Amino acid sequence: MGALGRCATTESMLEHSSPPSPVVVDKAPLAGNCETSDHCDLAGQAAETPHVQPGPLRIGEVVIDPPVLQAPMAGFTNFAYRQVVRELGGAGLQATEMIHARGFLEIDARTGEYPERLWGVEDEPRPLAVQIWDNDPEALAAVGHRVAHELGVSVVDINFGCPVKKVTERAKSGSYLLRSPERVGELVSRVVEACAPTPVTAKIRLGCTRDRITSIEVARAVEEAGAAALTVHGRTAQDMFTGQASWEQISDIKPHLKQIPLIGNGDLDSAEKVVQTFANWDVDAVMIARAALPKPWIFAQAKAALRGEPIPPDPPLDEQRELMLRHYDLVVRRFGTERGTLLMRKFACCYAAGRPGARDFRKHVAHVSQPEEYLEVVRKWFPREVSIEPRTPGSSD
Ligand SMILES: Cc1cc2nc3c(=O)[nH]c(=O)nc-3n(C[C@H](O)[C@H](O)[C@H](O)COP(=O)(O)O)c2cc1C
Repeated sequence: MGALGRCATTESMLEHSSPPSPVVVDKAPLAGNCETSDHCDLAGQAAETPHVQPGPLRIGEVVIDPPVLQAPMAGFTNFAYRQVVRELGGAGLQATEMIHARGFLEIDARTGEYPERLWGVEDEPRPLAVQIWDNDPEALAAVGHRVAHELGVSVVDINFGCPVKKVTERAKSGSYLLRSPERVGELVSRVVEACAPTPVTAKIRLGCTRDRITSIEVARAVEEAGAAALTVHGRTAQDMFTGQASWEQISDIKPHLKQIPLIGNGDLDSAEKVVQTFANWDVDAVMIARAALPKPWIFAQAKAALRGEPIPPDPPLDEQRELMLRHYDLVVRRFGTERGTLLMRKFACCYAAGRPGARDFRKHVAHVSQPEEYLEVVRKWFPREVSIEPRTPGSSD
């Protein structure tokens, strides 16, 4: 992501996760349409959805329970965000932002330090996945080895899905590699060898373009190269974030995997949709990205729903505000008040997204640069519950 605290970017990327959003679990044969189906209880209890209680996901020896994963998101899933998600519970596996392998090695040679994106990784609880990207097998292997053996992370994930030009056109990495399943296999194989016995996974999209879907060939190459799981975002690189993720095309990959699990990803923005996805599509686990920025408690809701328990409601807005302040505290402790405040702008916009008064909050928070200003804007403008004025006796409609 670009400069710190750009709310416009946050807005556009959240557009599919902020209410009102379309039903995203496309072509679901059983879940039906919430407006017409009596399987869908909008009051928040997914009890009548044909219930499939998925078992834990196994990535090599690592047991992930529930099989609901927090996705890697560059610019967002740093230690502070992961800590907020961890405290709320429910995410079976959390992932860092993607880390450029050659960048890691350059920083190490220059400063002897880890890149900033590895903030917290050394000490935080496991299971934890670190995601790396590059197209250079030796750099990927060297960094995979370091994060697996020096930092002892649970899973090393390789990014083959990033559609951003800096990664694809300039670095010939990320989703660029989906045109070449063989190359993907070579890269995975080298990293598997370097990380053993730590499991290595791959995260892909369906292909580079809609007329060049390569996910099945890539999936086979990933498995043959020794990866322990595959995550698929049900869009092509060309799609970026437009349209809907195709769970049908994700599901179609499953019969082509001999034994490794398939993790589906795309447009899941409620616990009910997580339940529907397991009921309707052939996946072993699901991964949530954007919807967990405005609702980091979505994992706890999904966990309850998968167990057939009542889904805890979203916290009241004053608790959401407190959570955002807790997040701010973690960010400021690491980056200092000024940089921390700038960095927090985009997270603050996420916390407000879709709530009453979000636009005004965004307008104000987008310009804060000092902690006092930030706290004042939060106090004055963070969304509050809309109170319905009691009707005075004798007033007319
Ligand atoms: C701001 C942002 C940053 C992202 N960064 C990464 C990343 O570093 N690595 C990765 O594999 N995917 C990244 N993604 C893609 C997500 O992990 C996920 O595949 C995608 O958003 C679809 O899931 P969703 O519909 O639940 O958001 C990013 C997505 C967004 C919106």
